[in-house]
Amino acid sequence: MQRSTLHLRNGDTSVVLDLTTDGLPAIVHWGTDLGDLTTAELDGLALAAVPQRVSGGIDVPARLTLLPQDAFGWQGTPGLDGHRAGLLFSSALALTSHTATEHSATFTARDDVAGLELLVELDVTPAGLLTQRLTLTNLADTPFELGALAPTFPLPATATEILDTTGRHLRERSPQRRDLTVGIHLRESRKGRPGADASLLLAAGERGFGFESGLVHAVHVAWSGNHRLAAERTVTAESFLQASELLLAGELVLAPGESYTTPLAMGSWGEGLNELAGRFHTEVRGRAVHPTRPRPVTLNTWEAVYFDHDLATLTALAERAARVGVERFVLDDGWFLGRRDDTAGLGDWYVDADVWPEGLDPLISTVRNLGMEFGLWFEPEMVNPDSDLARAHPDWLLQPAGRLPVPARQQQVLNLAIPEAFDYILTRIDDLLSTYDIAYIKWDHNRDLLGAGDARTGRVVVHEHTLALYRLLDELKVRHPGLEIESCASGGARVDLGILERTDRIWTSDCIDPIERLDNQRYTGLLLPPELMGAHISGPRSHSTHRSHDLSLRAGIAFFHHLGIEWDISRLTDAEEAELTRWVGAHKAVRDLAHTGRVVHADLPDESMDLRGVVAADGSRALFTITQRTTSANYPTGRLHLPGLDPLRSYTVRLAEPFDAVPGPGQSPLLWAQDGVTTTGRALATAGLQAPILYPEELLLIDVRAL
Ligand code: DGJ
Repeated sequence: MQRSTLHLRNGDTSVVLDLTTDGLPAIVHWGTDLGDLTTAELDGLALAAVPQRVSGGIDVPARLTLLPQDAFGWQGTPGLDGHRAGLLFSSALALTSHTATEHSATFTARDDVAGLELLVELDVTPAGLLTQRLTLTNLADTPFELGALAPTFPLPATATEILDTTGRHLRERSPQRRDLTVGIHLRESRKGRPGADASLLLAAGERGFGFESGLVHAVHVAWSGNHRLAAERTVTAESFLQASELLLAGELVLAPGESYTTPLAMGSWGEGLNELAGRFHTEVRGRAVHPTRPRPVTLNTWEAVYFDHDLATLTALAERAARVGVERFVLDDGWFLGRRDDTAGLGDWYVDADVWPEGLDPLISTVRNLGMEFGLWFEPEMVNPDSDLARAHPDWLLQPAGRLPVPARQQQVLNLAIPEAFDYILTRIDDLLSTYDIAYIKWDHNRDLLGAGDARTGRVVVHEHTLALYRLLDELKVRHPGLEIESCASGGARVDLGILERTDRIWTSDCIDPIERLDNQRYTGLLLPPELMGAHISGPRSHSTHRSHDLSLRAGIAFFHHLGIEWDISRLTDAEEAELTRWVGAHKAVRDLAHTGRVVHADLPDESMDLRGVVAADGSRALFTITQRTTSANYPTGRLHLPGLDPLRSYTVRLAEPFDAVPGPGQSPLLWAQDGVTTTGRALATAGLQAPILYPEELLLIDVRAL
């Protein structure tokens, strides 16, 4: 039987679609570039994927299409769920037309009985991502209540193991794995933000896939409200991923003629997670909004002074910050009306004259005169019941009918979908940005949304509230060109490519303990390149784990990222100041490389060690950190391989600035580290080099340069 196929190619990726299926087209291949295929070869590929009819089954075996529907026999989770007051629950959207370029396609499908039209926009990007966006339009003259509309990505048969991330405040993006067996693995956020425990992405691959090997596919949804990621396997041996907004009951009712468009669902793949993440990084770096100027080394005042705002103390901190090389000074929580602790004030965005009798001018002038940018903390979507705002406008707080949601950090949420509330918050922030020389906002969001209804209508409004948040951020960026914004949410609870379309970095976690940050940054890095992740050097003793670490470990773990300091450095000794200054200087000397290079993680058999690095885009140079997490059972620890180098080039490996010696307790010199050693990228990736003997919780930085 003749098939009708499309072959989309870009970024070393092929996507082959069979258009001959019932309903919408089916993706019959997503992954490695298949090269030029003739029509006959494409037909063959598509035909080879058609299943046989089975006993006890339906007459025409169902296919996993771009929108699996029960009307065509699909018995797994459908791509669309909705109804008209309980009727017309089973859609039969069937392809009516399509357009295609070499790398993209659109498909239009209609169901005249259900009164629905669907548009699927599919693109294989230059980075090799497969992106999908679906738009559903209500063609009939009655409302259509939408429950779910889910972009669907097929998995190869070899995908039998799932990886996703979970977490909590102070431990975001902790990996977890399980088998992909028949059934569904569902990761949802019902918190109005991705949340600390949300999965950044959902990956499925060959058993035991790692960073360096094993075919693996993953999806991410570029959305900052509620979301749903699912991995499913059916008894008909179809495996797939879905990535969509999660819609709550009654949240989305399409009026006649109205449409709903899903957030962008993004799929990546790779032979190992390094390649999969590399595609996301290339994509993110290719966006017009991606920051291009060097990421300013930041000092954030939170762990230095908390709510204790005092001009003299902060001036001393700013002076010391400038001396060690800080380029951006950020005043955290505590500057506005009534905000002496976390019980009051949110919503009253006026500088508190009790603490700042002359306003913020004296501090900002000092900071600017020292050559640094000034940044200010806000939590615009939040309101303390103990605030003038809440007292004046109780109906601006999100709530189900008749009661306030349970408090979290003594706060409630401002309903940005109310135009007056939106205007109030826009005016307050705009006014402060216009009055003061503020280059940066740390935009915080410290509670989950629960019972997120509109007090006036009683309807759930997470979707509208999220869109209003995006409008607010966009408007501030238009009014204040060059303004940079950080997405912070109880640390790293709002990390997604929706918020990052209008913000410039994320706060990766409130936990700055470098050992905890190893996994946090590694798994956040599945989606984000290091320049978008805030990584700060804490004080010697971590405030969240009470462990103490040397500066070299604290700085070394933050080194490749958007570097900052979160520490009261006003009382450093001269020696400590000199050491910190060296680290900041060393970072500035290599941040170009770190913020444009390819990130690689080594799969090490000895889990007591961590080896990761960034390789310059042209392969000419690389930097690696070797971290001894715990003691090793081996002594010495044996050889380490350096992944990601050009196998055909020769490289010299030596200690990187600011190291001038191996810091550990080794009994004799590590020969290669003394004067450096030169060999090929292939040799370094296979034979490798002897690991340094390090104390546990100690790190070494190495510099690798092509000859
Ligand atoms: C939570 C953030 O993650 C912290 O960095 C800090 O800004 C506090 N909020 C301030 O309340």
